[in-house]
Amino acid sequence: MTHAGKFAPLILALAVSLPVHAAESDPLIAARQASMLLVKTLGGELTAAMTSGGSEKAVTVCKDRAPAITAEISKQTGMDVRRVSSHNRNPNAVPDAWEAEAIATLEKRLAAGEKPETLEVSAMVTDAGGKTFRYARAIVTQPRCLSCHGSTEDIPDTVKAKLAIAYPADKAVGYAPGMLRGIITIKKAM
Ligand code: HEC
Repeated sequence: MTHAGKFAPLILALAVSLPVHAAESDPLIAARQASMLLVKTLGGELTAAMTSGGSEKAVTVCKDRAPAITAEISKQTGMDVRRVSSHNRNPNAVPDAWEAEAIATLEKRLAAGEKPETLEVSAMVTDAGGKTFRYARAIVTQPRCLSCHGSTEDIPDTVKAKLAIAYPADKAVGYAPGMLRGIITIKKAM
């Protein structure tokens, strides 16, 4: 085996790991990438579930897959990635003080006409526990979200029944397209 042949796998491994390393040193880039990955993965699974079984089947996908995908991306990226909302469906999706402020800021910017793609905030927060990088990206309601998050007329009865059983304290209804549904929130201890 030639030298070049022997070192080729190592060079390849370095080439693959370099962008990840760069992202680690810049938490904003890493958080952006993680949030985009979550948007893309969840969006894809939602489309597939809605196409194959309609919104009734998709409830199960959202219920089981959304938390699983979020946990998987957290594991992969080494950051704490979640979705929260001031009108949450998942009882654990409650914003903390920083997230509540981020939601208020993003709602104002959305109302002022800013495009959903650029609606993000980030900060380095220092408290007794040390330094934490915080990031929030807006999740804006689309027409296809309404069969599970819209008004009473938008949500089919079969879906309502499923939601009532799984989420007795559901607050995530009554949304219209263009409204802020919640945020992707990311934390990383620095
Ligand atoms: C088929 C029903 C269904 C559709 C369609 C749907 N969702 Fe949900 N959504 C759910 C369920 C069920 C949960 C709770 C699952 C969880 O724990 O994350 C949820 C939770 C969420 C949450 C987490 C915060 C919370 O309220 O608990 C966000 C954010 C969210 N949905 C946004 C959206 C957006 C944006 C769309 C459209 C692109 C959408 N959803 C479409 C069923 C749906």
